[in-house]
Amino acid sequence: MKQLSLLEAFDIIDINVTNDIADKTNYIVESFSAGGLCVEDARQELEAKYTPILEVTNKFDRRSVSYQLSKKDVLHSWLKYKEGFSADLVNILLDDMGAVPGDTVMDPFMGSGTTALVCQMRGINSIGYDIMPISGVSINAKANVMKYNISEIQCLLQEFKALEMPANYSKKTPYITITNTAYPEFNEHFIQFASEWITSSEYSDAAKNLFTLCMINSLERCSYTSKSGQYLSWDSRSQKVIEANIERAKNGKKLLPQHQCREIVESIKDAVIDELHHVLLDIETIQSNSNPESSATIDYTQNSVLFELPQLADNILKGVITSPPYCNRYDYTRTYALELVYLGIGEETIKKMRQDLLSCTVESKPKIEALKEHYASIGASERFNSIYSIIKSNAAFQEIMEAMRARKENGDLNNNGVIRMVEGYFTELAFIYAELYRICKKGAMVAFVNDNVRYGGEVIPVDYLSTSFAEQFGFTPVKVYCLKQQKGNSSQQMKKYGRVALRKSVTIWRKD
Ligand SMILES: C[S@@+](CC[C@H](N)C(=O)[O-])C[C@H]1O[C@@H](n2cnc3c(N)ncnc32)[C@H](O)[C@@H]1O
Repeated sequence: MKQLSLLEAFDIIDINVTNDIADKTNYIVESFSAGGLCVEDARQELEAKYTPILEVTNKFDRRSVSYQLSKKDVLHSWLKYKEGFSADLVNILLDDMGAVPGDTVMDPFMGSGTTALVCQMRGINSIGYDIMPISGVSINAKANVMKYNISEIQCLLQEFKALEMPANYSKKTPYITITNTAYPEFNEHFIQFASEWITSSEYSDAAKNLFTLCMINSLERCSYTSKSGQYLSWDSRSQKVIEANIERAKNGKKLLPQHQCREIVESIKDAVIDELHHVLLDIETIQSNSNPESSATIDYTQNSVLFELPQLADNILKGVITSPPYCNRYDYTRTYALELVYLGIGEETIKKMRQDLLSCTVESKPKIEALKEHYASIGASERFNSIYSIIKSNAAFQEIMEAMRARKENGDLNNNGVIRMVEGYFTELAFIYAELYRICKKGAMVAFVNDNVRYGGEVIPVDYLSTSFAEQFGFTPVKVYCLKQQKGNSSQQMKKYGRVALRKSVTIWRKD
């Protein structure tokens, strides 16, 4: 057996990487509660119940469930969205579900829009939701690929190359507290200048949107920030860190460590030119090689899927392919703060958006009352009550929540907001599973990509718990594909509680 190795990019562990599929035993959780502090019977029961449908697979790997494979793809690489999955994964799952032109497939958490785009290429209609407007920019830019007027984009590129910012231009791009001083001075001015230029230009809406995509794709590398970990990480050359260190020195505090996000902070103009060249090349390639435009529709709504699904009709979907935010404290609104601010979103709206996210951060507040009101407003209170009582009756969920509270009492949680997050996360996801069951047609297949997690020494089997909710709502559990590469344990948890198997899975359910 190969030594366990930590793969840098995604904190992933490779187990027994041979040509053969690894033994299932490496992926089964033996003990859910470190030190035997909490009851784990219900989780053990799930483990026993669903392990027969667990398949350690070569079909998906850490590259296909992440943005890595898309990096070199034409079109799919247009938005650098590291939380995205690949077109390969979507193609495999569409084949598995037997989706054909004319069918409708949904991605309730659309992100960069890969599900929608692959569907469109195959003549399949799609419905998608995301709370972040970045999704809209991405999907509009990509879905228009056959429609761009190449001469117009070439002209835009040439004009942008020749664009000179007057020496006395003094406006700066807007910022919110967490993005203040994110850019070197030239970039701060030029981003604003370029934004005014494109807005007041005569280019078509499609060309302007393409420019916006290139701009948001460039912001990070032209800034003193980088998307690493759960938030934005800051470069010690930024004014923000310099000022913080002056203050810390005054107060006798330890200085923030010297940290450079990147060697060179690029000029925003050069970066956007680079992006425009990239998309233009793809447009030329695709337009000259592809079949005529697909007539498939993409129906995208920028809103919380929690509040959209209850309003959809029954029995309309052939399938669902998605990856929700993981239950891992990752805050999309902080990570994508530069891009959201560029798109004109202000501080208060971003804070609200943070609360609209599926509960995946320790700041998430419960949404259950708002959901209850929403169901009432559409005359569906009975449905709300029935779904909620099923959720509350799930023994493994109850056990996990009790274990979280016991860990809090034991001082094992480094942030007590984790309890509210875990409760909100599964309650909200379960509402989505229930609604998807109703919206799917008979025979439809649902695929969710997700990671198992551990907090305070308690393993939460996201894949099996989700499957048990899905089964309660009527789905037939078909398969839990588990990647050979497992999720790494955090170093703190590993030191304190030892290593456990944390599966990265693709769960498959069917409506029979
Ligand atoms: C893991 S990413 C999805 C990535 C996508 N599969 C792709 O390939 O790009 C999860 C997405 O869910 C979105 N999201 C979070 N909470 C949401 C909600 N309540 N409603 C709709 N979208 C939400 C986030 O903004 C994020 O883009």
